Amino acid sequence: MDLTPIVTALRQAQHVVVFTGAGASAESGIPTFRDALSGLWARFDATKLATAEAFRADPSLCWGWYEWRRRKVLQAQPNAAHQAIAQLARHVPRLTVITQNVDDLHERAGSAGVIHLHGSLHAPRCLDCGQPYRAALPSAALAEGGCRIEPPRCAACQGYVRPGVVWFGEPLPEAQWAAALDAAQGCDLLLSVGTSGLVYPAAELPLQALRCRATVAHINPQRFAVSAQAYFLQGAAGAVMAALLAQAFA
Ligand code: OAD
Repeated sequence: MDLTPIVTALRQAQHVVVFTGAGASAESGIPTFRDALSGLWARFDATKLATAEAFRADPSLCWGWYEWRRRKVLQAQPNAAHQAIAQLARHVPRLTVITQNVDDLHERAGSAGVIHLHGSLHAPRCLDCGQPYRAALPSAALAEGGCRIEPPRCAACQGYVRPGVVWFGEPLPEAQWAAALDAAQGCDLLLSVGTSGLVYPAAELPLQALRCRATVAHINPQRFAVSAQAYFLQGAAGAVMAALLAQAFA
């Protein structure tokens, strides 16, 4: 794999955007969504878990599933990709990290100001009044795939507490989306790491960067439709990001 064009772009860039998807956390043991065998959407029905209607129909099923995912993240550690992305901030004039992931592994690796397009597993809030839920949640391990857990109640209005993620059919958080779009349209180089590029509007970001004449590279072990848009660096996020960093700034 020839990294030269991206190594050159990294050395010259004034503003780099790293845009990550589930593949960036895969090497930390967090399942992706669309992997044919281990992906969450191969094993669970998104319509019964990841929509507001699903939560209202069966709050305990939905909350239990997100609690299982949250606890998996608590047990995980940032991997070589998260580390390399955090280190990149020391080498380029400006770095913006935009993630579709609802974990906090970028932050735990040391990245600051991460834009979370799809919310966070660690920011539950009231379904009815929106008030953030600040009480500690229990951290015991859960059976694979979760189990029913009654969600906590909001201290202000007694409504159910919901996960702080963006569900299907919900808009992206406005300020985060505006900041992400701004960064994608103003950067010199966008590295898209471990995303299938199928979920919009997030998948618009590499396209916007291309339209604004930035260099764009997709890093993924598998070729996807989006890989044809721009440079394609085939490989796992950890190895490719570490190699890019080493070659550009050794
Ligand atoms: P997907 O599961 O659609 O795609 C994950 C991508 O990561 C795939 O293209 C894999 O080939 C790739 N991959 C797997 N292992 C990798 C590794 N070690 N290094 C690099 N890449 C690897 O996940 P996303 O594209 O993130 O949205 O999905 C986008 C959104 O769809 C998610 O944020 C979520 C989901 O439904 C919401 O929940 C709103």
